[in-house]
Amino acid sequence: MTALPPTQTIGVIGAGTMGAGIAQVAAQAGHEVWLYDLSAAAVDAGLHHISTGLDKLVARGKMTSDHKDAVMGRLKPAQDLAQLANAALVVEVIVEKLDVKQDLFKKLEDICPSDTILASNTSSISITSIAAGLTHPERLVGMHFFNPAPIMKLVEVVSGLATSQDVATTIYDTATAWGKKAVYAKSTPGFIVNRVARPFYAEALRVVQEGGSDFATLDAVMRDCGGFRMGPFELMDLIGHDVNYAVTNSVFDAYYGDPRFLPSLVQKELVNAGRLGRKTNAGFYDYQDTAQPIKINDYPPVNRSLERIDVVGDCSAIASLIAILKTLEGVDLQIDENRAKPAEIKIGSAVLKLCDGRFATVRSREEGIENLIHFDLALDYATTPRIAIAKSLQATNDALLEAVAFFQRLGKQVNVIEDLPGLIVMRTVAMLANEGADAVHQQVCSPQDVDIAMKNGVNYPIGPLQWTKRIGLSTVYETLKGLGQSYGEDRYRLSPLILKMVAAGRELDTLAEKD
Ligand code: NAI
Repeated sequence: MTALPPTQTIGVIGAGTMGAGIAQVAAQAGHEVWLYDLSAAAVDAGLHHISTGLDKLVARGKMTSDHKDAVMGRLKPAQDLAQLANAALVVEVIVEKLDVKQDLFKKLEDICPSDTILASNTSSISITSIAAGLTHPERLVGMHFFNPAPIMKLVEVVSGLATSQDVATTIYDTATAWGKKAVYAKSTPGFIVNRVARPFYAEALRVVQEGGSDFATLDAVMRDCGGFRMGPFELMDLIGHDVNYAVTNSVFDAYYGDPRFLPSLVQKELVNAGRLGRKTNAGFYDYQDTAQPIKINDYPPVNRSLERIDVVGDCSAIASLIAILKTLEGVDLQIDENRAKPAEIKIGSAVLKLCDGRFATVRSREEGIENLIHFDLALDYATTPRIAIAKSLQATNDALLEAVAFFQRLGKQVNVIEDLPGLIVMRTVAMLANEGADAVHQQVCSPQDVDIAMKNGVNYPIGPLQWTKRIGLSTVYETLKGLGQSYGEDRYRLSPLILKMVAAGRELDTLAEKD
């Protein structure tokens, strides 16, 4: 363990949203923290913000007032950068501009001894670029916290070309000692989280753009069925469309226009209109006092008796659904798992299948299934209160009603959406997994760190690679292949790592295993 001990002083430069939060985290971990900002008023405001935040913890009995006083006593306003000379670590949390950051670090090299670690909280600038021109670029590292820093667990420890492994390890261990979950990342655009998370927004925007679903229904499906804490549209409204759109554009530009990160015209329209989300009282949702309650497009109850269910094929991707079918009383359930292809659930005239990356309409023709109804991926079919389904154009309305009644019998709200490839949760999870796998393929991080980053940086219910393991890499592979065929776009190209592991018949988490 090489964590900086609490006896060592920390400097934080920039006392805004993130700087104040980071200073609080370090002070709560026992360090003396010098907080500097170009604006003395910003330091006062930052300290006041920390103090009122800690007061709330005291009021809720989560911290004693003595403890709060001790934490506040360790936070010192610096009037001059030179007061940071004794710090073992200086974290830069200033405006997101390369030249301003470079200037600051050059000044710090004159002030601090050569073994002081210099860290940047940048979310989008290359650590290699920030370090370029320093006398000791090896001691500069990315220490990327998430907002709000005292609450969000993740810290990405980002190494540029020159960063020494010892410095990265010290920051990793220090972040861990501060109660955070640390991950290592190579300095590449978006690091881990801001890169892997792009499809969470992009696929949702595309589904809405193509009329697959309305945004509120999609949010409900992602929350209830996907297990995500917030739906993509409410989350974009919270982040602010200007900010979210700018991050997407910066990742897109940084990858030289890779279509995988293509920004959305739907979001651009909101930015153009000044409908930036909660902060302007309007985004996808209306936040004014006069706003009408949002209606989710739930299918009305369908009254049909369920007497017999035939399941034929491989059920591994829908194991939790099969488990609840086995608990149904008064239903004749026949399961024949001895077929290699993904399971079909036959109810009356309807054939239900977990969606892949094809339109149900196309799959219906390709597989010769007349009344095909696709249902979406769920984090857990036993507990999801909701499911999205779509009918192929060839299927009868009667088959659709059979499918609706079936899921209603399982206690689910049913959202019938348009027939789009990968519906809502499936296409999102497949693309998150693809991006995570590609980050691993490009040596940005380990598979384990993809999952740790997405769970702790953006609160995903399960890491995208863990989720892939749960449903089988071949399910993700088929979905991505189908999406690629459906759209004919490079956006859905498979990560070479997925191709390779599928060919080897192995899951991604076996990557490190030696034969
Ligand atoms: P902010 O605007 O709330 O605070 C920035 C502070 O830096 C201001 O108080 C400003 O007076 C001060 N400042 C600007 N130039 C300075 C200089 N040359 N020397 C000293 N102080 C200076 O910004 P925020 O949101 O806290 O972001 C700061 C950094 O953290 C940026 O690099 C941003 O990309 C990164 N970041 C932001 C996140 C967020 O959600 N806001 C999340 C993760 C990283």
